[in-house]
Amino acid sequence: MYICICNAIRDCELRRAARRCSGDAEAVYAALGKRPDCRQCLDEAEDVLFEERQMSLIPARAA
Ligand code: FES
Repeated sequence: MYICICNAIRDCELRRAARRCSGDAEAVYAALGKRPDCRQCLDEAEDVLFEERQMSLIPARAA
């Protein structure tokens, strides 16, 4: 699913970037070599970054 139509950024790409880049959505876009245009995606992008970073804090269960 695309999060940012203007930059063709998919949620999976944003989630990967969330784990290796700090900062807000604009900072993560910059790390991807992108820049917000219409800015309509930024709230959703922030939600994805927050969710992904929260998930990375949860330790994986031992099998
Ligand atoms: S949809 Fe992301 S900047 Fe327009």
